[in-house]
Amino acid sequence: MVVSNRVPVPSDSGSPAAGGLAVALNAALQQRGGFWFGWSGNVSEEETPLQVHDFGRVSYAVTDLSQRDIDEYYAGFANRALWPVCHYRLDLTEISANDTAGYFRVNEFFARRLATLLKPDDVIWIHDYHFIPLAAYLRQMGFENRMGFFLHIPWAPYDVSSALPAYQTVLSGLTRYDVVGFQTRRDVENFTRCLEQEKMARDLGDGRWEADGRVFKVDAFPIGIETDLFRQEAREAKSNSLVRRMRASMEDKHLIIGVDRLDYSKGIRQRIEAFACMLERFPNMRNKVTFLQITPKSRSEVPEYLKMQHEVAEQAGWTNGKFGDVDWTPVRYINKAVSRTSLAGLYRSARVGMVTPLRDGMNLVAKEYVASQRGTDPGVLVLSRFAGAAEELDSALLVNPYDTEATANAIVRALEMSLEERKERWKAMMARLRSNTVDHWCANFMAVLTQEQSCALPKGAE
Ligand code: F6P
Repeated sequence: MVVSNRVPVPSDSGSPAAGGLAVALNAALQQRGGFWFGWSGNVSEEETPLQVHDFGRVSYAVTDLSQRDIDEYYAGFANRALWPVCHYRLDLTEISANDTAGYFRVNEFFARRLATLLKPDDVIWIHDYHFIPLAAYLRQMGFENRMGFFLHIPWAPYDVSSALPAYQTVLSGLTRYDVVGFQTRRDVENFTRCLEQEKMARDLGDGRWEADGRVFKVDAFPIGIETDLFRQEAREAKSNSLVRRMRASMEDKHLIIGVDRLDYSKGIRQRIEAFACMLERFPNMRNKVTFLQITPKSRSEVPEYLKMQHEVAEQAGWTNGKFGDVDWTPVRYINKAVSRTSLAGLYRSARVGMVTPLRDGMNLVAKEYVASQRGTDPGVLVLSRFAGAAEELDSALLVNPYDTEATANAIVRALEMSLEERKERWKAMMARLRSNTVDHWCANFMAVLTQEQSCALPKGAE
């Protein structure tokens, strides 16, 4: 049983859902048979029955939510409290008692709906910050199934995360799982420090913790991509019309690419600022490079996102106004989604991939950019030290995205890097991507979740 807020219900033709994570989880579910459960994405003011869609051995069960539920649970607590706190942004955190209550109420509602589907031997894998308390509600209802939780976003250090409303309830909710997975060692350390600080669990060693007589495992499971498949897609994308149009429009200029949801955690404004700083300080680069930033709008109902959308647009406009010419637009800023194949082809065409979030759980764009490159003439990844991906991709040009000048210098260094160094760095990163694909991630998590010893402490061990 996979649970996530968004559920990639396939179209009626049964075609697989797009996106590496969805594809990998679908594959794991197809092998074992099972359900994917979550929100339908629709609003309904009446309580409607669960909608179940069967595709082969996998069924998708989704439920509608009322507008109030969405406002308080999704746009409220999840995205105005949990999201900013987990991304170290207390300045953007909005505390509201209504939203907090709504988050727990909607989680209880999801738990009740999920309960109608559960069988005693079902293994349940719950994803992301929307559903932290789900296991606690299921346990209260008497479910003793194996339950795993994976957080796709970072977990902030104690002093930051403890500012979260209902912090202790959120934290103790995580102790109700059998396995709690994070993207990086840093997140694991931050989380276990919180457990210690609050004296909420006892360290049994080897990643095992005990709380209220239950043992649970905490570990890092860095998520990967479908490395070979994505690489294949990038190779084949040369016939893709959008990629061809883009290449034709580039003439002999170098392409620098950034691809992100329009989110303040991604550091998009700071990135454009660094690009502008580079043009200011290295006039020889003017008219030689184009920066393409593809940024579909996201969570626009959340006020902090709306404000940031204006700031990014202003920064792009200002840069073009200051440095552009009649025949050259330095920043091409696009607010629409682009297909996976087109993205793969664009990454392959780009000499530099800019992945400079201020904080990120992993960031799969970094991995996709590397996987798309030609081994004989690879581009350079400029990667934020604060992306989870930096733990594995340490052969990228690592930058502090808050340091505009240093990031500007890294862009120039990337553009001027010798072929030999580009190949060396790329090879090292590809080796990491091949040894940890999304299939490894899925299999590792499931192995720990299904093989860990039963959660009850042996007698006399207390
Ligand atoms: O990064 C966390 C995450 O849940 C991703 O898994 C997902 O791509 C993104 O946020 C989606 O956000 P939303 O569902 O709010 O559009």
